[in-house]
Amino acid sequence: MTRILAIESSCDETAVAITEDGKLLANVVATQIEVHEKFGGVMPEIASRLHTENIGVCLQQALDKSGLRFEDMDAFAVTRGPGLIGCLHVGLQAAKTLAMLYQKPLIPVHHLAGHIYANEYVGEFKFPLLCVVVSGGNTEFVIMKDHMDFEIVGETKDDAVGECYDKVARVLGLPYPGGLPIDQHAKLGKPVIHLPIPDAGGGKYDVSYSGLKTAVINYVNNRKQKGESVDVDDMACSFQTVAIGMILDKALKAAHDYHVNQVILAGGVSANSYLRAQMKEKLEGSGIDLIIPPLWCTTDNAAMIAKVAERLYQKKFFAPLDLGVDPNWKIDHWDDYTTK
Ligand code: KG4
Repeated sequence: MTRILAIESSCDETAVAITEDGKLLANVVATQIEVHEKFGGVMPEIASRLHTENIGVCLQQALDKSGLRFEDMDAFAVTRGPGLIGCLHVGLQAAKTLAMLYQKPLIPVHHLAGHIYANEYVGEFKFPLLCVVVSGGNTEFVIMKDHMDFEIVGETKDDAVGECYDKVARVLGLPYPGGLPIDQHAKLGKPVIHLPIPDAGGGKYDVSYSGLKTAVINYVNNRKQKGESVDVDDMACSFQTVAIGMILDKALKAAHDYHVNQVILAGGVSANSYLRAQMKEKLEGSGIDLIIPPLWCTTDNAAMIAKVAERLYQKKFFAPLDLGVDPNWKIDHWDDYTTK
């Protein structure tokens, strides 16, 4: 029997999960969204402090829910990156302390591997597969030929798609995080405002979002200068059509070129209703299977970190106690945890 306690603190959610032979016994998430909403984005210093305040409570709640004690665990896993440096440190220090106190292995987990493996709670991987990793900090197309084998074949050249959603929402006067409000307004509008489809240049499967963000900002400012209002529904729909259109276009190209058996959506933006519906429609009858994560898997949680950690426990992928965080850790180097 293998019991893992996993910690996630890479951005604005403090989370602790406990699994026993793959079964989720506890999944505690303390979100800070209400605090950061006031600032229209995550304030890194405040986020780190809140993780420090919340981590103890989350650990206790996870133990209470599982009915287990720290000494019952076989390993302590933690998100080591990518993410906000101060936030990552809180989770890592907690995990290191537990590993040291209870003399159990420390397992460093890549945050995006977590988002990908969250899908294992609802489906079985069929290799080769394409992971469409779309979040507030990352936009990557990743080919997996086997478990824990990640090849980034395309990515954003500038902003992440979720970051772009959040900035556009802010300009339109919508609350943070902007993904859901834009998704909701888009359903009420039409894609009638012309926005350029940014050219990412270079790689065949790369995308770019900064030009799209600027185009929306310029449009809104021009209207304001002329004393004209912006139709938020139409802008949300026009923006979403282009932003998600780029993901669909590149993902389908990659899925075709790499002859994948399956496409997997992962990350916060995978909650997007248009992305989900369009991907389903476009893959129908193609012979390519699709895993759409349940909504609880699209936001940050530690259950997904535990899922990866179970695999790493079998491989004995353990880290020394002088492990540092890596805010820019690339998924194709997930097994390189040398302290930098
Ligand atoms: O980055 P992420 O996986 O979570 C954290 O690390 O906290 O997901 C957050 C991102 C935000 O940019 C948010 O606006 C976006 O996911 N998001 C969405 C939707 N729901 C959340 N973007 C588009 N459509 C949605 N329905």
